[in-house]
Amino acid sequence: MRDAELVVRGGTVVEAGWSAPADVFVAGGVVVALAEPGTPAPGGATEVDATGRLVMPGGVDPHCHVGFTSGDFTSLDDYTRCTTAAVFGGTTTIVDFAIPRPGQAPADAAYAQRAKADRGLCDSALHACVVEWDETVPDQLGALVADGMPTVKMFTTYRGETMAGEDTILRTMRTLRDLGGMVVIHCEANHIIEDTQERCAASGRIGAEHMAATRPELAETASVAEVLAIAESLTAPVYFVHQSTAEAVELVAAARRRGVPAFTESVAHHLVLDDGNYDGPAPERFVCCPPLRSRQAVDALGRHLFTGEITTIGSDHCCYDVAQKESRRTDVRAMPNGLPGVETRLPVIFSEYVAGAGLPATRFVELTAANPARTNGLYPRKGTLMPGSDADIAIWDPAARWRVSAGDLHMATDYTPYEGMTLTGRPRTVLVGGRVVVHDGVLVDPVPRGRHLSAGPISLTPALGRTAP
Ligand code: URP
Ligand code: ZN
Ligand code: ZN
Ligand code: ZN
Repeated sequence: MRDAELVVRGGTVVEAGWSAPADVFVAGGVVVALAEPGTPAPGGATEVDATGRLVMPGGVDPHCHVGFTSGDFTSLDDYTRCTTAAVFGGTTTIVDFAIPRPGQAPADAAYAQRAKADRGLCDSALHACVVEWDETVPDQLGALVADGMPTVKMFTTYRGETMAGEDTILRTMRTLRDLGGMVVIHCEANHIIEDTQERCAASGRIGAEHMAATRPELAETASVAEVLAIAESLTAPVYFVHQSTAEAVELVAAARRRGVPAFTESVAHHLVLDDGNYDGPAPERFVCCPPLRSRQAVDALGRHLFTGEITTIGSDHCCYDVAQKESRRTDVRAMPNGLPGVETRLPVIFSEYVAGAGLPATRFVELTAANPARTNGLYPRKGTLMPGSDADIAIWDPAARWRVSAGDLHMATDYTPYEGMTLTGRPRTVLVGGRVVVHDGVLVDPVPRGRHLSAGPISLTPALGRTAP
């Protein structure tokens, strides 16, 4: 403690497995000790008051698109803007995607995106992406894993953009298994979706208000089953992004019980918002893939947060504005998909599930920080406050009541799908690398010091579920 430069004093530290009153001592950007409350600090150390607050490791968002181009649209943020919003929302590490443009090599896309990380206010890591197999892919994957990018995004949908065939998925999965990496995959059976969309279009039901019907649940279930079978045949790890139904989660949980190292991510909007929003005045603002599901499905998905069957919670942040969303609202096949959410991920989940439904705060930390760090090879540098970890700290007022309004948020858009919701709990002070960056709603240190994080091997621990952490 002698050398500590800063101490977070008087709060309750919440980790993935425990919580207790403790003071957090920081030096050189890392946590150096968790100490008895009241432990003296050296003269000159900065004291940050956390009385009555929860002191959590900063959130790790495992699914965040920054300045993402898809079809005719590019989402509106860059690293500075996205990470500023992230930090206001208590998230201090994002994992972005390097999605190649048609014909671009995966490694070229990854190194180009990686070069932007130093414009972030917090650290970031990157998922690479394979769309098509060719004889250069194994060497590219070898280089990417060696350079700290062991996770590779794949899609079973979006024909002509990022859709990969089963043979490409199998080869990529096998190659990454042998390299210590992992496929992270968006599963929706494209043939079912295209056929459903054609039938919807033929009967004039292809506008944003029909989004849910155009991408049925069974398309997700079918694709998850297919990809799980590939993983099981290879004994390869696999991480399913944005699982939107309990049925899809159950398939992964059942495979895990058979010994397949398979992970489930759910994202905040599928856990909170339902398809009733497509009946409202601005359905296009809720167009995302998979779409929002019925209230019954949302509740069934949410119950899996309590059982340990969901591994992580991401945002699937995609920052389009109202003009972009409205411009193609009459045909979902041409719309920009995705919702802004890097800033709201933690507050809406804390409010709905911790304050609202009794999810333990320790489990909240596990789902939103520790497990995302593990599945991305960033633990224990990120996702914990144990000594030696980066001093990325979110100090929460668990009782704060506030109303969500796009005008008060910091994302590069003019709307939020949570507009008008009253939430309980929010981060008040957020430290990145031991520096106070946000304090009481004010950005007090806007200097970009973000680093690209070189990820280590993927931890398979969370695949076993919380019964065997
Ligand atoms: O609708 C979504 N999810 N857009 C972002 C791209 C993706 O599929 O994750
Ligand atoms: Zn996706
Ligand atoms: Zn279940
Ligand atoms: Zn996504």
